[in-house]
Amino acid sequence: MKYKSDYFISDEYWKNNLDKIIEEDFWIESYKQYFNGGKCLDLGCGIGQYTKKLIEWDYDVTSADISDIALSKVKTFNHNIKKIDMRDDLPFDDNEFDLVFANLSIHYFSDRDTKNLMKEVKRILKPKGMFIGSVNSIREYNYLKNKMIEVEYHYWLNGNKYVRLFDEEDLKEYLSIFKIIKLEELETIRFKHKKNYFIFICQK
Ligand SMILES: C[S@@+](CC[C@H](N)C(=O)[O-])C[C@H]1O[C@@H](n2cnc3c(N)ncnc32)[C@H](O)[C@@H]1O
Repeated sequence: MKYKSDYFISDEYWKNNLDKIIEEDFWIESYKQYFNGGKCLDLGCGIGQYTKKLIEWDYDVTSADISDIALSKVKTFNHNIKKIDMRDDLPFDDNEFDLVFANLSIHYFSDRDTKNLMKEVKRILKPKGMFIGSVNSIREYNYLKNKMIEVEYHYWLNGNKYVRLFDEEDLKEYLSIFKIIKLEELETIRFKHKKNYFIFICQK
């Protein structure tokens, strides 16, 4: 079954999020040794706050997202933008990137689409290329449980937005086609709310 939601395409979402600034959760600072420059895809880049950091860290970044509104903001500091839908095959060549980076952007999809996305990320990475990112933790369930309807195992409809919450086992399974170097659960404040998430550092 294909779950379609236009949540992130709508002006409504971006009206509230276009100018939000991440203050406290630049978790990548603590893992800088895994970021060695080269060609990078910022997958689900949003308004590009991590794109900026990755450019500072010497990456040639392609910023990709489903939202035209978000991409038009990113275009003011990175000309290299691409509109994509992660539920489809990715419009990039085999072995193209040294790094695929995905911060809180790959936890919206069905089991089938998530597995296909993992295969696609692997395909576009160079040999030994890195796949680094973060996803929602199942611990978020306690804050959200009264609002959500389960549509698949660990996958819910929350209002008009689909969301996947991962436990460690789920994440290891989805990432099993990569070499997992690090997988850690963190807690932070994002946009003034407590947030539990996993970070992962993988290699092709
Ligand atoms: C929580 S935001 C994270 C944005 C950015 N990575 C950050 O950390 O600030 C999730 C992003 O994923 C994008 N997204 C959601 N579904 C998508 C899809 N099917 N294809 C491409 N991007 C998608 C949204 O538009 C949004 O920019």
